[in-house]
Amino acid sequence: MPTSAEPAEIETPRAAMPSPELNADGKTRAVRAMFAEIAPSYDRLNHLLSINVDKLWRRFTVGKLKDALARPNALALDLCCGTADLTLELEKRARVVGCDFCHPMLVIGNEKIAAKQARRAALAEGDALHLPFADGSFDVVTIAFGLRNLERVEGGLAEILRVLKPGGRAAVLEFSRPVVPVFRQAFEFYFYNILPRIGSLVSGSGGAYHYLPASVRAFPDQKSLAEMMRKIGYANVRYHNLTGGIAALHLGERK
Ligand SMILES: C[S@@+](CC[C@H](N)C(=O)[O-])C[C@H]1O[C@@H](n2cnc3c(N)ncnc32)[C@H](O)[C@@H]1O
Repeated sequence: MPTSAEPAEIETPRAAMPSPELNADGKTRAVRAMFAEIAPSYDRLNHLLSINVDKLWRRFTVGKLKDALARPNALALDLCCGTADLTLELEKRARVVGCDFCHPMLVIGNEKIAAKQARRAALAEGDALHLPFADGSFDVVTIAFGLRNLERVEGGLAEILRVLKPGGRAAVLEFSRPVVPVFRQAFEFYFYNILPRIGSLVSGSGGAYHYLPASVRAFPDQKSLAEMMRKIGYANVRYHNLTGGIAALHLGERK
């Protein structure tokens, strides 16, 4: 199983923030540089800004996959694993590879894996759009708060389908659209006005926590993402709204 190698080269922090004006290649580089910049404060801010609800969302995700994770010798892939929070949650039930293209995030993830002595987890450096895994390798593939960052959302979904075994299960956990109008307005006020300020202050990154709400706005809503998954070839596509639709968990299968 591949483990993350020494850094060949780490992107210089404070590069341009990802924006719609950047071309595809530019977005990929900017996203990687942005996560390299915020890696040291990423976990702290995640839990602070979501008042720890992000942990419940990851646990809910793993709960929905428990049958597939209980298969004999089940192997899971946690794509865009970042600092390995979901990887560690999956490791409680099965062998898991976490994969991300941002080395500083993986370094922190590896420290957490070592501290927890999570022997069934390993991390690999790789691009979600060009995965270094053979077709049909995994019983389960998860991607949490990663799909939105890819230069091509459809390309990422197709790559997940490719590396799933027939009958394998995919889970996409991502920010979405709150479904109740009054709640949506209150949440959007927080998300667009307060969160970027706290995020910038704590992380020291001017752009990352402005990019977050902008990227969620540009991402397909619950129904559109489900439709996109069906068109790409996923079977049995369904979704669960989490915390009123602030996030959504989309599930699908490879036929
Ligand atoms: C918001 S973080 C999510 C991390 C983790 N899944 C979690 O739940 O906290 C998004 C992660 O996606 C990674 N990422 C973005 N684009 C990627 C790509 N094309 N290939 C691999 N990783 C990517 C980033 O490096 C970052 O670690």
